[in-house]
Amino acid sequence: MEVKNWSDLWLSYSNKIGAGESSCTVMYDGFEPENRILKSAEKELFKGLSEVGTAVKFRRNEAVAKEGYNINGGKDITVIEASDENGALYGAFHLLRSLECGEDITELNVSKAPSNPLRMMNHWDNMDGSIERGYSGRSFFFEKDDIIINERTVDYARFMASIGINGVVINNVNVKWAATDLITIRFFDKLYELSEIFADYGIKLYLSLNFASPIELGGLDNCDPLDDQVIAWWKDKVKEVYDRLPNLGGFLVKADSEGRPGPFTYGRTQADGANMLGDVIAPYGGIIIWRCFVYNCTQDWRDTKTDRARAGYDYFKDLDGQYHDNVILQIKNGPMDFQIREPISPLIGGLTKTNQMLEVQIAQEYTGHQIDLCYLIPMFKEILGFKTYCQSENDTVADVVSGRAFGNKLAGMAAVINTGNDLNWTGNDLAAANLYGFGRLAYDTELTAEEIAREWVRLTFDLDKELEDKLVNMLLTSRETYEKYTSPLGIGWMVTPNTHYGPSVDGYEYSRWGTYHRADHFGIGVDRTDKGTGYAQQYYQPNADMYNDPKTCPENLLLFFHHIPYDWKLKSGQTLIQYIYDSHFEGYEEAKELQKSWKAFEGKVPQNVYNCVSHRFELQVANAHEWCDQVNSYFYRKSAVADEKGREIF
Ligand code: GCU
Repeated sequence: MEVKNWSDLWLSYSNKIGAGESSCTVMYDGFEPENRILKSAEKELFKGLSEVGTAVKFRRNEAVAKEGYNINGGKDITVIEASDENGALYGAFHLLRSLECGEDITELNVSKAPSNPLRMMNHWDNMDGSIERGYSGRSFFFEKDDIIINERTVDYARFMASIGINGVVINNVNVKWAATDLITIRFFDKLYELSEIFADYGIKLYLSLNFASPIELGGLDNCDPLDDQVIAWWKDKVKEVYDRLPNLGGFLVKADSEGRPGPFTYGRTQADGANMLGDVIAPYGGIIIWRCFVYNCTQDWRDTKTDRARAGYDYFKDLDGQYHDNVILQIKNGPMDFQIREPISPLIGGLTKTNQMLEVQIAQEYTGHQIDLCYLIPMFKEILGFKTYCQSENDTVADVVSGRAFGNKLAGMAAVINTGNDLNWTGNDLAAANLYGFGRLAYDTELTAEEIAREWVRLTFDLDKELEDKLVNMLLTSRETYEKYTSPLGIGWMVTPNTHYGPSVDGYEYSRWGTYHRADHFGIGVDRTDKGTGYAQQYYQPNADMYNDPKTCPENLLLFFHHIPYDWKLKSGQTLIQYIYDSHFEGYEEAKELQKSWKAFEGKVPQNVYNCVSHRFELQVANAHEWCDQVNSYFYRKSAVADEKGREIF
């Protein structure tokens, strides 16, 4: 028997109660005790409630929302009501969470319904075991071109269910090698096994698909979505897949982007591609999740009218209403690529007749590689709360992606996940707050970033109130700290190309000529107004006008929308150049503060956690220092304006 040496994350159940195996009493009313999901719920209750001595009854109540639950605590018995098994399981996890957080569960009286129907994790794991943008070791799903199934797989499913995740895409959106394509006979047995483990926890398995499979697997000479032979090939293939994997949720597709094949090659639209696959998968109840991250990465950035930010809207908006019912568009939160600050993609809510879901990234690709502390839930809250003005009410991003705004059944949130086979799952132990937080938020978008942080801290550690507050505060301020020492006021990037860690102010991915920031001797920023690229006009009013005018544009996005002179006065009274200097020095200081604050946790968290996080703070401070130096000296040289405070800038 393998000795379990990996972290239990927020499910350790060991902080405040014993981790004994003795059982509590579980009863059923209207639910089948032998049901696989209820068995999982029962196992979990045995783990976490063993020493509490309360009995739990699962009662079916058809009036409870899908995947929702009511909990009524009592001295002798706690009743969890749900209309389906997932709801019952989530109710059990809620009960356990409340107990671990120190609440009196006999007094519990809650009623929950998920905000989003689809709550998904997207792994960017490759079959060779590497992970694209992975910062936590290698894949725990794949190694050496094969699928891994072991005890960690089960724990993974438990973690996901405990935060309300109901769908997981296990492989990278960049599906590149036909020899290891998952939709081939070689992998069906293991995929089936995996889907069964997931099913025990109410999770559906999804796969990323290669749009060029008819060529690469099928030997056809094209993959035109309107070609009869191609369609016939997909029909056979999808039948073969569903014969072996009847519970498969569907496919995620990245097409026509960053070298991936797609319908554009054949003069077809994104809707042609997505609908063809949607039709083929419809008889099996599957769905097609089609990504909107479509842009021409080789476009010449020197042309000031060309703008990558425009691409999503330009390619997808006109096709609104053409997508079939079982197709859902997955839209990144911003128009660029998971920067520390971006405006909201105008496609969200820009589409009013199409199923859509939000994609965010908890893998910290541009936000510090899980070396730097960057708690992302405050950012996700901002995104969800953004008023799109797509209609007069019910128009926030949360309204749109939950399906509430336009009555879509297919809707939700997905995160590019931050896990790997490191023993602590997320590289930096503190990055697990993002993993936990995404799930909790996707289930309940009303939770605040602070509530989620506090829950996570309580479930993960056993700290006194003062240290708990300290850690919560460190998490809550970390995003702004990271933003301060990296790229200012929404301009983004300035990172080392390809790796996306550390500064490279002029670093530009795809050609020798571009910069993302367009800084010159006079100023910095991209003119995305009606006189520039016109991107601001992709928003509804009054957002379009607000962004179009530098005086009304939110300052934290000023350089995203405008080319601004260095002597521009910000609302604080600082000039732009002074703001750049000040925020970078501040960010570096704050990084040092974080490192110092963490020292208080020695002896209060497990030593290995303490050491791992300490080491990362050391690296973060070095990184912040480097950023501060490089950004400040770059803009000093460009602008030739000295720091008012006379600090040393080289
Ligand atoms: C980013 C990231 C890529 C990824 C892509 C995507 O560009 O750097 O690694 O493949 O996003 O979302 O498809």
